[in-house]
Amino acid sequence: MSDPSFPGIRACVFDAYGTLFDVHSAVGRHRERVGSQADAASATWRAKQLEYTWQRSLMDRYVDFRQVTADALDYALEAHGIDDAALRADLLHSYLALDCYPEVPGVLRALREAGMRNAILSNGSPAMLEAAVESAGIGHLLDAVISVDSLGVYKPAMAVYRLVLDRLGVGRGQVSFQSSNAWDAAAAATFGFRVVWCNRFGQPPERLPDAPHAEIPTLEGLPAIVLPD
Ligand code: LAC
Repeated sequence: MSDPSFPGIRACVFDAYGTLFDVHSAVGRHRERVGSQADAASATWRAKQLEYTWQRSLMDRYVDFRQVTADALDYALEAHGIDDAALRADLLHSYLALDCYPEVPGVLRALREAGMRNAILSNGSPAMLEAAVESAGIGHLLDAVISVDSLGVYKPAMAVYRLVLDRLGVGRGQVSFQSSNAWDAAAAATFGFRVVWCNRFGQPPERLPDAPHAEIPTLEGLPAIVLPD
């Protein structure tokens, strides 16, 4: 048995949107109705959603992620010239039941079977996360689903990452944090977690103060990083 690259990890904590759940699957389900701009509209929706979390946090004007997601969708639809109230409602509904990436259940199961504790740390509101977890059928593989909502501020505020320590009763160095959002991975490294950047979209590294400690293209490679051989 050889040591894992991250020794001493007791909990694997995952970002939700983009990391476990495919945020583009909402538009994907209504691709024909959205039309030729489907991919561009989905990208605008996601980009605006994140921008609004950062901007509202800096302004001290928190509203929950469901509201931010709806506001960002309204912006995206208007920006792409789409005016369809029924489609808007269906897209928001689909956001509550996003697909999870195909490797996610197997990876969570392998970690669990090796004695690891699994958790989500997300901007999502508790109701949104509960719906997504339930629709993906992964609730039994998670020990905690932690939302920023109790704090009223979004990632990458350091207070958000601190929630993990209180909820799981672990030290920073005992947590492996996984995110496909490079800025989230960088912030978690600054906080003091061991960090795996799941670089699903082949992006270049962020120019932020701290870098993730490992990079993988999907979560498939995570057990080899945190579990002994
Ligand atoms: C989340 C966003 C960052 O789940 O994707 O927290």
